[in-house]
Formats: sequence, C-alpha cells, structure tokens
Amino acid sequence: MKVEELLSYATYAKQYAYAPYSNFQVGAAVLTSSGKVYTGCNIENASYGATNCAERTAFFKAISEGERDFKAIAIVSSSQDETFPCGICRQVMMEFMPDGIVILETKEKQIKQYRVQELLPYAFTKKDF
Ligand code: THU
Repeated sequence: MKVEELLSYATYAKQYAYAPYSNFQVGAAVLTSSGKVYTGCNIENASYGATNCAERTAFFKAISEGERDFKAIAIVSSSQDETFPCGICRQVMMEFMPDGIVILETKEKQIKQYRVQELLPYAFTKKDF
C-alpha cells in the first residue's frame, strides 16, 4: 500500500473525532503486516484524562480483533501540519510495531516518514525485565 493511501484512510477517520474540549481533531490508520487497515480518531471525555488518542484507538481496534503485527501508521490532524504522536502512543507503537514507520504530512504536503525507534529512543520494552 502506498503511503498516500494510508494517509487518506487517516483523513477519512478524522471526521469521526470526538473532540469537543480541545477542538483538535486527529485521525490515524494502522497498516498490518498482512495488508489490512484499521482506522481511529481521538475520543475525548469531560474527565480529560479519559481521552484516547487517535493512534491508540486504531491500534486497540486492530489488536482487539486479533492483529499483532504492524508495519506503519499514518496520522493527520486538524492543524493541517505534521502532528507527532504523544509519548503514550509512541510507547504503544514500540510494543506492537518496534520496527514500524510513522507517516505524517506537512502543511506543504510533503510526506515525512519516521522510524518508531527514532521517535522513542532508549525505550522501555519487554527486554528490560
Ligand atoms: N491527540 C491525538 O489524538 N493524537 C496525538 O498524536 C496528539 C493528541 C488528541 C488527544 C486530544 O483529544 C487532543 O488531541 C488534544 O490533545
């Protein structure tokens, strides 16, 4: 699958964002090793800490349906510029996609790709205990 296609899945998912508090809409699409795509949006809550990011929504949908191997995630937001995943989402990526790629798009429409390992160096993983 082309990176542009995965980004368009993320853009589609962004319309479902539930973000009445921040008014910041995020969409994500994860690609499994077998080629399936799962999408997610951010889901906020009046108790702010209960909010779930778009990236984790996408991963948790996939994982809860039996998926375990992932290749990439595309992320878009209402900022129109590249939106880097938060630390908690990077940790989830490290668990399920340590060799994965994070795909973002700048406001100049330039597609950027980052390795999970460069976004979360010196990560704590199952190898540490
Ligand atoms: N958010 C995401 O969904 N993903 C990110 O990578 C950054 C932050 C959401 C959480 C919250 O709903 C809103 O953006 C503002 O933090």
